[in-house]
Amino acid sequence: MDPVLVSHPLARIHLSALRDAKAPPARFRWHLHRLAELLFWEATRDLDTTARRVQTPLAETNGSTFARPLVLAPILRAGLGLEEAILPLVPDAVVAHIGIARDETTARPVSYYAKLPPVLAEADVFLLDPMLATGGSACAAADKLKAAGARRLRLLCVVSSPAGLEAVATAHPDLPVFTAAVDEGLNEHFYIVPGLGDAGDRCFGT
Ligand code: PRP
Ligand code: URA
Repeated sequence: MDPVLVSHPLARIHLSALRDAKAPPARFRWHLHRLAELLFWEATRDLDTTARRVQTPLAETNGSTFARPLVLAPILRAGLGLEEAILPLVPDAVVAHIGIARDETTARPVSYYAKLPPVLAEADVFLLDPMLATGGSACAAADKLKAAGARRLRLLCVVSSPAGLEAVATAHPDLPVFTAAVDEGLNEHFYIVPGLGDAGDRCFGT
């Protein structure tokens, strides 16, 4: 499945600010939050809703509600930078924290934590991580969510690499990907180039 490239001018402007190596954590997080909102907007465009009646102060009219529960699944740590901006848009969503960190030498994902809610099977689930480099972390997180029952998954990542997209498309051909950029590739340390560096470190100042 081809990724959905969110190339709205606002997304490109916020992404440029995010890439800027001089942006301190507060500014980095602010632009990351804006990109999270734009990616979530696009990723929910075709979300199923059901009709409900609403009583305004003047009359009864037709309204909408989500058809299913929503689950936000940030991959720690950097995924928190997306979740923080999206949760206020859908405050009834449930949050499924997934702790995965890359081994610094091999870049293979190492899973260290997961707290998954029981509603996964019936929910629309949004897997959140700003970076899709080798794709190992996103694939491992999707494996974990599916093993716990998730059936309707979407992946939101700000910057992706061709290799990461290929890995996701191979391991999870049913997983739609929403991204603001497909960069050139990976360097010898498996970092995305030009990318934006280490998203977790830049988000949290480590
Ligand atoms: C980063 C990033 C992704 C992962 C992407 O996390 O936030 O989770 O790397 O790389 P991949 O596609 O090659 O798996 P990292 O492992 O650095 O953990 P951190 O957010 O705790 O720093
Ligand atoms: N993780 C990051 O935070 N950045 C990259 O470029 C690759 C993995």
